[in-house]
Amino acid sequence: MTAALIDGKAFAAGLRERVAQRVARFVEQAGRAPGLAVVLVGDDPASAVYVRSKGKATTAAGMAGIEHRLPADVPQQALLDLVDALNADPAIDGILVQLPLPSHIDEQAVTTRIDPDKDVDGFHPVNAGRLATGLEGFVPCTPLGCLMLLKDQLGDLSGLDAVVIGRSNIVGKPMAQLLIAESCTVTVAHSRTRDLPSVVKRADIVVAAVGRPQMVKAEWLKPGATVIDVGINRTPEGLVGDVDFAGALDVAGAVTPVPGGVGPMTIAVLLRNTLISAERREN
Ligand code: GUN
Repeated sequence: MTAALIDGKAFAAGLRERVAQRVARFVEQAGRAPGLAVVLVGDDPASAVYVRSKGKATTAAGMAGIEHRLPADVPQQALLDLVDALNADPAIDGILVQLPLPSHIDEQAVTTRIDPDKDVDGFHPVNAGRLATGLEGFVPCTPLGCLMLLKDQLGDLSGLDAVVIGRSNIVGKPMAQLLIAESCTVTVAHSRTRDLPSVVKRADIVVAAVGRPQMVKAEWLKPGATVIDVGINRTPEGLVGDVDFAGALDVAGAVTPVPGGVGPMTIAVLLRNTLISAERREN
């Protein structure tokens, strides 16, 4: 093994501690705690676990976590009405509607209904546009967490070749935007990419966000590359990422483990985004 392990769990713990300290100052000055509303529709077990851990982390950071649970068959209009109420509530700084939503609900209609200035998930098209044009806004938590780990590991990213595998609105596209803003040369690969191994071979930075267990092979990597594995795949052998982790340890310069890499960063950045929203709204 030659690769360094990128300890996202430790980095996230440090970020959460810094957020908690700033929350304490905010509470002193504003006379209220930052408020994060989390909306869960239906009873998907994985979503319920995520929502519970977001709630716990929110409270642990000294913020107010307000959870709204709606039945799986809730009419779309009732969900939109709840979003409207949260948009208008001065005690709420951040609104997160847990995805995926039941199939009768139009996810775009819901994410677009959230006030962009309370959109701590960064999914609203206004925030996607702000990111793409270099304006201040909210950046999706997982890619921003990946960027923090990359900068902590590598320092200045300028001029590096980066390959993002996956083109989702939640991870791949915002990740590419963030890396462009850091002056990387960015390639976005996806399911139709021809000869993915040779595309990956050029990369100083590989961000894998495809949701296919161990799809990225160690022999595709450029020796010394920094590998960020966003995948969390449940397999009979347990949780595995999108990268052949054991193989990558012998080739990469640094790699995130699964679990304990990118995963813990998502919630830590969500708390950071909520605090920033509260600070902006008070000023
Ligand atoms: N489902 C999986 N990840 C996320 C996330 O970061 N935000 C929301 N709202 N839903 C998700």
